[in-house]
Amino acid sequence: MPTPDIVWKDGKFGQTSRRDAWWLSPTAVLLGFGAFLVYANWAAFQNSHYTYGPYISPFYSPELFGSSPHALFGPKPGWYPNFLPFSPALFILWIPGLFRVTCYYYRGAYYKSFWADPPACAVSEPRKSYLGERTFPLIMQNFHRYFLRLSYIVWGFLVYDALRSFFFPEGFGIGVGSLVLVVNVVLLAGYVFGCHAFRHLIGGTFDQISDHPVRHKIYNFGSRLNSGHKKWAWASLLWVAFSDIYVRLCSMGIWHDWRIL
Ligand code: FES
Repeated sequence: MPTPDIVWKDGKFGQTSRRDAWWLSPTAVLLGFGAFLVYANWAAFQNSHYTYGPYISPFYSPELFGSSPHALFGPKPGWYPNFLPFSPALFILWIPGLFRVTCYYYRGAYYKSFWADPPACAVSEPRKSYLGERTFPLIMQNFHRYFLRLSYIVWGFLVYDALRSFFFPEGFGIGVGSLVLVVNVVLLAGYVFGCHAFRHLIGGTFDQISDHPVRHKIYNFGSRLNSGHKKWAWASLLWVAFSDIYVRLCSMGIWHDWRIL
């Protein structure tokens, strides 16, 4: 009678001794993350309905070049190749996109659900070799720490957008969209400040972090967020998509932005 360990290594794809619904989690990730990728790509290429009054979709912010009043450097630049599709999101969305794709949590999740490598713990995988992340292209996952730094810049702009969303042409106010954008930056903060690489950034260069009380507090705060990293990852992913949908549907006149104040 083979042990579960031997079945996992030498069995056919999907073979396992597990009796629980091990396929449930990878299937949910496949559907959830897959749906997000399809929607985000579709939304990024639209180049329309990404602002509504003081609101701007987080997929399009910061808007470097574009036709909305939020654009930092004016309309589509003359040097932009005509044969390429233009959208402000294409200048910026690669930063949070690559940050998420190289996230330690998402890697574990999509290696299982998209590549079945392995589909779950103690479940046989479709290939027998294991190359790890030491060779191209997966060695690129190590760039996560740099995408983290860029993501903080993008997050800073989203904080600015959330604050700006309270200032309507007729003055200060609170719309449902303002709250949507505030929740978005809070959830994103929980995600990016709970990043494993953030803890290294804040305290990883010290031999003894307790000698640096402020950094130590920030490190502990990051560790607390990190313990719920998976939940922050999913909550922020879903809400950032919802924020885009909210702004888009308001802009299209399908949803009405209810003003609380
Ligand atoms: S490990 Fe998940 S965001 Fe860095």
